[in-house]
Amino acid sequence: MRRRRENIILKTPDQMRKMRTAGLVVAQIHQAIRDAVEPGMTTADLDHVALDVLKRNNATSNFYGYYDYPGQICTSVNEVIVHGIPGNRVLEPGDLVSFDCGAIVDGWHGDGCFSLVLPGGDPEVTARRQRLCDRTEKATWVGVAAMARGKYVGDIGAAIDDYVVGLNPTPDIVQDYVGHGIGRAMHEDPDVPNYRTHFKGSKLVPGMVLCIEPQLTEGKETNVTLEDDWTVVTLDGSDACHWEYEVALHEGGVWVLTAPDGGKAGLAPFGITPAPLD
Ligand code: MF3
Ligand code: CO
Repeated sequence: MRRRRENIILKTPDQMRKMRTAGLVVAQIHQAIRDAVEPGMTTADLDHVALDVLKRNNATSNFYGYYDYPGQICTSVNEVIVHGIPGNRVLEPGDLVSFDCGAIVDGWHGDGCFSLVLPGGDPEVTARRQRLCDRTEKATWVGVAAMARGKYVGDIGAAIDDYVVGLNPTPDIVQDYVGHGIGRAMHEDPDVPNYRTHFKGSKLVPGMVLCIEPQLTEGKETNVTLEDDWTVVTLDGSDACHWEYEVALHEGGVWVLTAPDGGKAGLAPFGITPAPLD
């Protein structure tokens, strides 16, 4: 059977520039969290940091209220893969934390996630977590590079898959949560799997804005959602890491909307120069 036709809403360069504004608010939230976070803080403290940045920019969170989601951002610690709700959990030395943040500015959505390992903790554990963190970030750039060079949306997941399979030890790629188009809504078509599928997907064309967001696990990717209906954890309790960039594809090339430098540094190792929108 043929796959459902995806309803992809292409954006003009002008609309992409508006999305860039939202993307830069997300980048600003990330920076504020990097500057503030330390062991002893609660995840709710970081939610407040995010809300401050949103308010200062006349922006709102696209997560808050989404299917009644109660946070401004998602804070996913260690074995939590995605959708950790900020609360009274106290961050400990050596924790691996993913901060997924979004912003709406003038009706346009931004969405991005980064991860870090807090200082301190058992050196053996933190070295392993830092490796997973670095590999997840790299996997995301591999996906962005594939979007720049590829022909089909499926090339993104295939490239990420090839990269991850080549790692030793080999992390798992979470199958249940995929990337997505974004625009006037946080989630638009197309789905952007972070792994190889039998479906090559839609053609990559100028006007697409996609969120590429691999989640890697140290052990098995098999996961369960906790009683709160949000928190997704690895079944085996192994560490998980999430990274996400929002990327615009236009006539000139790609521009990473949630990266302050548009993706210059991240794409340099691939020999790709991102193209600004103005
Ligand atoms: N940033 C997530 C994504 O990429 C969405 C967060 S789910 C929410 O799809 F409920 F927190 F909004
Ligand atoms: Co997303």
